[in-house]
Amino acid sequence: MKNTGRIDPESIDDYIAAGGYEGLRKALAMEPYSVIEEMLGAGLRGRGGAGFSTGMKKKFTSQSCQDCPQRYVVVNADEGEPGTFKDRVIMEQDPHLYLEGTIIAAYSIKASRAYIYIRGEYYKSVDRARKAIDAAYQRGFLGKGILGSDFDLEVEVMLGAGSYLCGEELTMLESLEGKRGYPRIKPPFPAEAGVFGMPTLVNNVETLANVPLIMVHGKDWYRSFGTERSPGTKIFTLSGQVVRPGHYEAELGITLRQLIDDLAGGMKGGRPFKAALLGGAAGTFVDSSMLDEKMTYDNLREKDATLGSGAVIVMTDDDSIYDILCNCLRFFKHESCGKCVPCRVGTTMLVENLKKLRNGSKNKDELLQQMVRDAEVMAATSLCPLGQSPILPLKSAVRYFSDEL
Ligand SMILES: Cc1cc2nc3c(=O)[nH]c(=O)nc-3n(C[C@H](O)[C@H](O)[C@H](O)COP(=O)(O)O)c2cc1C
Ligand code: SF4
Repeated sequence: MKNTGRIDPESIDDYIAAGGYEGLRKALAMEPYSVIEEMLGAGLRGRGGAGFSTGMKKKFTSQSCQDCPQRYVVVNADEGEPGTFKDRVIMEQDPHLYLEGTIIAAYSIKASRAYIYIRGEYYKSVDRARKAIDAAYQRGFLGKGILGSDFDLEVEVMLGAGSYLCGEELTMLESLEGKRGYPRIKPPFPAEAGVFGMPTLVNNVETLANVPLIMVHGKDWYRSFGTERSPGTKIFTLSGQVVRPGHYEAELGITLRQLIDDLAGGMKGGRPFKAALLGGAAGTFVDSSMLDEKMTYDNLREKDATLGSGAVIVMTDDDSIYDILCNCLRFFKHESCGKCVPCRVGTTMLVENLKKLRNGSKNKDELLQQMVRDAEVMAATSLCPLGQSPILPLKSAVRYFSDEL
């Protein structure tokens, strides 16, 4: 976020004056595969939620289907996870940054076409993306023979229509092809057969925003931030009961306590911390025993928690875990596309059983255990990751706050 609030997001000259498009120049002077090696060396991991190695994904995409006539980059700018508003900040405040990252990514995998799939309600992000693309074409950063090289790239903005599921990469590809937003069965993965059946690199906006900086400063510089296995910085979005809710860029490895106290101004009204929901609805509840844990992909996973998209929803003892869990489960019920039975029926059952709990079910413990078992069956049998998600908030709520439920 080095340019956020410092440059005019609609001025390509401001972006260039701040060092913009230097990463692209540097990349174009290298072999495409050397750019991928730089990403591998930097250890950049996807910021969309799964934390998969960006370098590996580029490597797979660049090496698959050598006979295919076309390769694509798809920028995931759907940002549908509750509590997450980090990509919006980049798209509104520094649109050339992730556009430059997209161009470099396309060069590295030899793609000649890219789509930026933005959620339709993000009007300003859409407007700024279009303006940035127009300006980049005018300056020779897009189009034919970019900056005098033999690399061509066309970029287009596509709009989502409000479906959470369309943020899931394979569903997004269906939507991009003009079809209904239903998920595809994996494999094949997008790297092998993505949009229009061609090898496709799908990356999140924040992931791509890191790419120009790695090109300019190098992998060792990048690795000087964060931890060994989770290098770099991350934008965390804090909401709920903190003094200053908002987006904060911090090194991976910061603790939850530091995020709340040092960046977000502490707990609102001085109330005690009770819980945080990490990673949004498809995330996990944690209690105060996790306040000093490092916020990295691996550390949280080892503790059965999630970093996800970087959403942190903070609660005090005034807040009801039941209500928040209910919101999460109702969200999944609403967003379930209905294609497969475990999720279509399971999300409804979970909501109904949670209501029974609220109404004072006699066999509370039994019912809770039944809900966890149902969510586990959903996780094992659902067609796509949406049906595999309710187990996360549910199990963690039961683990830390079963007394309250
Ligand atoms: C239901 C669902 C919704 C998702 N929504 C988003 C989203 O809005 N933005 C995003 O970048 N990734 C989202 N993802 C993750 C993508 O499927 C994918 O992992 C990501 O775009 C890959 O990019 P990355 O490697 O740069 O993180 C979602 C996943 C699921 C299962
Ligand atoms: S798991 Fe849910 S969202 Fe995914 S295909 Fe099945 S019904 Fe649709």
